[in-house]
Amino acid sequence: MSTTPLAQATRAFNQNRQAEFENRFVNALNEAGMLQLVSLGHRSGLLKRMADGEPITTGELARSSEMSERYVREWLGGLTVSGVVEHDAESMTYRLPPEHALLLTDDGDANLAVFSQYLALMGQVENDVLDAFRHGKGVPYEKYRRFHEVMAEDSGQTVLPALFDAILPLAPELTERLESGIRVLDLGCGRGLALMKMAERFPASRFEGFDLSPEAVDWARGQAAQRGLSNVAFEVRDLSDFDETADAGAFDLVTTFDAIHDQAKPLNLLTGIRRTLKPNGVYLAQDIHASGHHHHDRGHPLGPLLYSVSIMHCMSVSLAQGGEGLGTMWGRERARDYFTRTGFSSIEVHQLPHDIQNDYWVLRP
Ligand SMILES: C[S@@+](CC[C@H](N)C(=O)[O-])C[C@H]1O[C@@H](n2cnc3c(N)ncnc32)[C@H](O)[C@@H]1O
Repeated sequence: MSTTPLAQATRAFNQNRQAEFENRFVNALNEAGMLQLVSLGHRSGLLKRMADGEPITTGELARSSEMSERYVREWLGGLTVSGVVEHDAESMTYRLPPEHALLLTDDGDANLAVFSQYLALMGQVENDVLDAFRHGKGVPYEKYRRFHEVMAEDSGQTVLPALFDAILPLAPELTERLESGIRVLDLGCGRGLALMKMAERFPASRFEGFDLSPEAVDWARGQAAQRGLSNVAFEVRDLSDFDETADAGAFDLVTTFDAIHDQAKPLNLLTGIRRTLKPNGVYLAQDIHASGHHHHDRGHPLGPLLYSVSIMHCMSVSLAQGGEGLGTMWGRERARDYFTRTGFSSIEVHQLPHDIQNDYWVLRP
């Protein structure tokens, strides 16, 4: 070990640093408490009930939401001390200010309350993840109750609102081709909301979605039937061997939304995508924006959260399939390397202003 004066000074105990970290940590505990309360408010519908910005008493809110007044009162207490809800002690009323309502309900451009659900979603597998630290074999999808529901709400914020105005126009010819009628495949489609939205908008085109999860595919089929969509189909498929099972030259457009890094065999999937595209086909991929080097990602606006999501979900579900376990923060450099190795010759990457979490790749054979 070095004992130079500089090394000693560097190792010297810094009390200010300790105090700063303590403050930060206490703050984080409080913010985590606020997130849990917001998640409950989102799932119970209480935030939505308060979105009109009118003052309301605990009794009125409980009665109109058909919930226990004791629970509603405790919840409002927590959101009052968090500064999310305003309280008037004289009239004993509570109010969700419009600035907060726009961010925590469907009334605004993006409902941030959706993301607060990840805390509890990941918390439910903490014991399994802890075991996985020892055996190294990941945590299977079955352990995550509500994953596909929350994931569909999440991509409902990042993909759906931007699909027609920002994402598809990244390949300038796509909208016209979709209007005239092409074949489209979405891989790792989850509940398939992006496909259904495109199927509604472009009736001359045909859409297919593949996903490992029978639960997600059942839901997507039910929803497509309910909407009367006859140009979209969903199939349960393990894409780990897509390099061999993909139909050659079958599709004009392939999409993956947040569905490469948590695959078991991402290179096999990408090889299959390249194979299944027609020569003038386009592959649009949304995946996490990161450098892939933690020393560079220190300033990443969602870095700590996304590393936590990686261990608690993305890396773990891939490892549980005997997969590569790339991790959420695999990064642009490795993504570009994978796209090049699987035969894409034109590779463009974009960031869109509405989405700080993802990169948008436009790839052509
Ligand atoms: C992060 S989710 C994204 C879902 C959807 N694209 C969205 O944006 O809502 C990743 C999806 O990949 C699917 N997946 C993971 N491993 C797979 C595999 N081996 N074969 C097929 N799908 C897989 C999961 O079931 C999940 O629906």
